[in-house]
Amino acid sequence: MTPLPDRVAALAAAALDAPVDDVRALLAPPRDRGRADLALPCFQIAKRRGANPVEVARAAAAAIAVAPPLAEVEAAGPYLNFTFEAGAIAEEVVGGAIAADAGYGTSDEGAGKTVVVDFSSPNIAKPFGIHHLRSTVIGAAIGRVLRARGYAVEGVNHLGDWGTQFGQLIVAYRRWGDERRLDGEGIPYLLELYVRFNEEKEAAPELQDEARAAFRALEAGDADCRALWARFKEVSEAEFRRVYDILGVTFEHFTGESFYEDKMPEVLAELEASGLLEQSDDATVVNLEDDGLGVSLVKKGDDSTLYVTRDLAAAIHRHRTFGFHKALYVVGAAQSLHFKQLFRILEKLGKPFAGDMVHVPFGLLRFKDGKMSTRQGKVIFLEEVLDRAVELARKIIEEKNPDLSDRDRVARQVGIGAVVFNDLKSRRVKDVTFDWDEVLSFEGDTGPYLQYTHARCANIFRKAGRAPEERAADVDYGRLELEPERELIRVIGQLGDHVRRAAEEYEPSIVAQYLLSTAARFNRFYNDDRCRVVGADPETREARLALVRATQITLRNGLALLGLEAPDEM
Ligand code: ARG
Repeated sequence: MTPLPDRVAALAAAALDAPVDDVRALLAPPRDRGRADLALPCFQIAKRRGANPVEVARAAAAAIAVAPPLAEVEAAGPYLNFTFEAGAIAEEVVGGAIAADAGYGTSDEGAGKTVVVDFSSPNIAKPFGIHHLRSTVIGAAIGRVLRARGYAVEGVNHLGDWGTQFGQLIVAYRRWGDERRLDGEGIPYLLELYVRFNEEKEAAPELQDEARAAFRALEAGDADCRALWARFKEVSEAEFRRVYDILGVTFEHFTGESFYEDKMPEVLAELEASGLLEQSDDATVVNLEDDGLGVSLVKKGDDSTLYVTRDLAAAIHRHRTFGFHKALYVVGAAQSLHFKQLFRILEKLGKPFAGDMVHVPFGLLRFKDGKMSTRQGKVIFLEEVLDRAVELARKIIEEKNPDLSDRDRVARQVGIGAVVFNDLKSRRVKDVTFDWDEVLSFEGDTGPYLQYTHARCANIFRKAGRAPEERAADVDYGRLELEPERELIRVIGQLGDHVRRAAEEYEPSIVAQYLLSTAARFNRFYNDDRCRVVGADPETREARLALVRATQITLRNGLALLGLEAPDEM
């Protein structure tokens, strides 16, 4: 059956003599909480023909024949409002959500197209930074949202595993390194060596020359340097993988900067052939002054390559390998000049895909209080943040629900979910504050609040003595006619639209905010005495159980897109 909004679009398009796709795109639930289910703003259509939108709406309302499932068509100023029969919209939305189940909210819009998502990308031998947490959480959510729209997603972890700093580390390790400590302590020990190198080089400047030589040797394939570097990488990756396991994040490709090492001569040759290279002092640069983008350093005097050179090689390699529709870089806003330069250089090279590359920036995350444990100065260890979140969640759960059997698992789901949601709830370019009390609160705009609302749905089924998956043979959807019910139905019906917008704007917060309003609508229904589920007459009870089930599915699917689990009890 054609979805109701599509049918309305067809009717309205005929009455307005406007293209049906345009009308469909404009149709949305009205902003004010009136009775109408869908509203069509007539401004654009009126403007195009130099007419008055109020007139256009009025004429169209008169021209549309009202027949089931439509109950009413009405002009409200410049808007055309549509109201469905209670049963029709409930059956479509609630019945549709239940039937689609895990597939509810998905579409195949992007089928046949590949999007490369470069995300997380921490630097080896350094702690997994907080901005890498943001990139991981936001990038993974964008990947899931795109998959839900049918795109093929290639998630790439562009590990920072190449560069002059490894020369420093090699020198530091050769001088002061301790195999046992490296094994036992991992990244914090590598960080300590790195810090020591930078302290000692003040008094001994020759260290810096040694480090440069070591990196040159590494690039030239010196076996001993390679072996050390591989060790540092292995130790670091083991720690990163622990974090990814905790967060439930996976990558299709774990290809760091070193992967492009043998692919850089080609790029440099291409830059040379295109006449883009200039000598500046001791280095080779691409001059982007005409674009107001400064100069981009692609090769140092000692021939060692740079971050941007590796990104150029990576972009070309990715296009060759995946033939992408879009290539996203989920990286903090601080690197926006880097990506502007990268994309501009590709454009100057005449790469037709340069316009399909997108920097997806995000703001900073700051801790509100100093209460974060740190082992070394200002560095925050992500694993400690996650562990603490789980521990605090466990305390809250023990207080609220002392009989909960699966306490450890739920504490993990809630604690991690709280941290993840905090990162996703606001527009990504905004800075985020991390406030322990707020993040873990069961009320307010939090992950635990959404999970709690989901568990509340599950609890209704427990009280009703029914498995949520069990489907009643037939439901009289016409029973769902009270205002809180209609409003909840309306919001459930919009999951797919929000997933679409989130995919178009690479903006997981659109799903996050949508889930918050779904939960708010559900809780209004739940707290309304007229809307009791278990105590209602059998027919109404069936219809309301279906509505609760549709809510549960919506919350669960939406949370899954963001990377949060949805426990049934907490
Ligand atoms: N490793 C880099 C950093 O920590 C991020 C890499 C982002 N991805 C890229 N293709 N440049 O700043």
